[in-house]
Amino acid sequence: MKAITVPRPGGLDVLQVSDHPDPGEPGTGEIRVRVHASSLNFHDYSVVTGVIPSEDGRIPMSDGAGVVEAVGDGVEQFAVGDHVVSTFFPPWQEGEPREGTFDAVPGDGVDGYAREQVVRPAHWFTHAPEGYSHTEAATLTTAGLTAWRALVVDNHIKAGDTILVLGTGGVSIFALQFARLMGARVIATSSSDEKLARLRNLGAEHTINYKDDPDWGRTVKKLTDGRGVDQIIEVGGPGTLTQSIDAIRIGGLISLIGVLTGTGGNVPTAKFMRKQARLQGLMVGSRRHQIEMIRAINASGLKPVIDRTFGLEEIADAFRHEESNRHFGKICLAL
Ligand SMILES: NC(=O)c1ccc[n+]([C@@H]2O[C@H](COP(=O)([O-])OP(=O)(O)OC[C@H]3O[C@@H](n4cnc5c(N)ncnc54)[C@H](OP(=O)(O)O)[C@@H]3O)[C@@H](O)[C@H]2O)c1
Repeated sequence: MKAITVPRPGGLDVLQVSDHPDPGEPGTGEIRVRVHASSLNFHDYSVVTGVIPSEDGRIPMSDGAGVVEAVGDGVEQFAVGDHVVSTFFPPWQEGEPREGTFDAVPGDGVDGYAREQVVRPAHWFTHAPEGYSHTEAATLTTAGLTAWRALVVDNHIKAGDTILVLGTGGVSIFALQFARLMGARVIATSSSDEKLARLRNLGAEHTINYKDDPDWGRTVKKLTDGRGVDQIIEVGGPGTLTQSIDAIRIGGLISLIGVLTGTGGNVPTAKFMRKQARLQGLMVGSRRHQIEMIRAINASGLKPVIDRTFGLEEIADAFRHEESNRHFGKICLAL
């Protein structure tokens, strides 16, 4: 089978497609999956470029979707031919958050899904949504589940809430879609007027160009009659947090999801305290959260926004496309 490996110290120019032995038959409790698709996340970018150092020859990509080709003894929840999608934290099946590291994450601590076949314990996967292509299913493991958990699991979003999403990457577009699905209002930002028009087409009530309006936190407050928003999907980190603190309502929730602008910086602590807001870091979600998200997708027919799909051998070009920030929603790989 073909797979991509990342030789140390990493870099887009050294990603190699090579032949690997087929994984063989699944053992007890395992399934063999023909992987047909993956999708790109900032975390995968950090692994392939060596910003997050991983083992020499690591197979990258945390997201994987495909078809069950064989099942081992004792596997009851999957049958040959089922469409499945991988989970981000395989050991975190349900319950309270338990993962603070990437040690067990496919494509980082263990080999990922930039490969044609894999044998894994069955509980590392869930069923894919009904009617989804493999490419669509592959968008859910990381970006989809992160947005779902922030809004639905941790914040119990309600119809009528107002949510602010930053930028037009995978997590933020999913957050916009899930927020609309739950009957919430959405304010969205982007650096591109063309992308702002697309955000309005997806249901954003107000949009702000954060490059033209560096004081966008105050603008968000004005757009909400001085109240501020109930929740912010914070993907920027230190470069955006000050504005987010301006934009949040008293007692609101800032979900700290991304660090696109860096990993450290100043926070206006006094203003944050006066807002009596909550700042919650979170990392993806459990397998149980993924099952619940897919249940909601099956009930609603929600489909992900896919910007572009590349072939496995085009993986470096796919990451260059992500680097360019020209994308809107998810970038995928088809295998
Ligand atoms: N905690 C978790 O569990 C988790 C899970 C998934 C992702 N993440 C993190 O979340 C972040 C986003 O991930 P992603 O996969 O959605 O990334 P992505 O698809 O690569 O998103 C990139 C987009 O972010 C927007 N952006 C960049 N700088 C910005 C800024 N200063 N203000 C507002 N928007 C900005 C840009 O949108 P425009 O082009 O529209 O300006 C850009 O196109 C990353 O830091 C990633 O590591 C965390």
